[in-house]
Amino acid sequence: MILDIDHVGIAVSDLDESVEHHRRTLGVEPTHRERVEDQGVEEVLFAVGTSSIQLLGALGSDTPVGRFLANRGPGIHHIAYRVDDLVEALARLRAEGVRLVDEVPRKGSRGTLIAFVHPKDMGAVLVELVQDR
Ligand code: CO
Repeated sequence: MILDIDHVGIAVSDLDESVEHHRRTLGVEPTHRERVEDQGVEEVLFAVGTSSIQLLGALGSDTPVGRFLANRGPGIHHIAYRVDDLVEALARLRAEGVRLVDEVPRKGSRGTLIAFVHPKDMGAVLVELVQDR
């Protein structure tokens, strides 16, 4: 069951510059910053209500976000839904014939469990599911 929108991920070409831009223009303050090596990103979160804006900088050109930036430029990269039971959510998607990027949950930032769903089966939107633990 989906509980909330956990975050909206936005790919940026200069993380520090984008952080400053968000502070200045939207008046938001960063609530979390983390390098997630196995995803090839450094992320900065701004809490907005019960959700967050997540700015994503690529750790290299040969990473998913690096390739996204090269192909499409900066912009919305994914939407992440918070779920109460990630294993159950993945089983439901699989039963509905939706292709999964991650067949099993893996470690996300902030100690969460995450899994990505294939955009081809989600209206060209890269969907991430997040479970707090
Ligand atoms: Co995310």
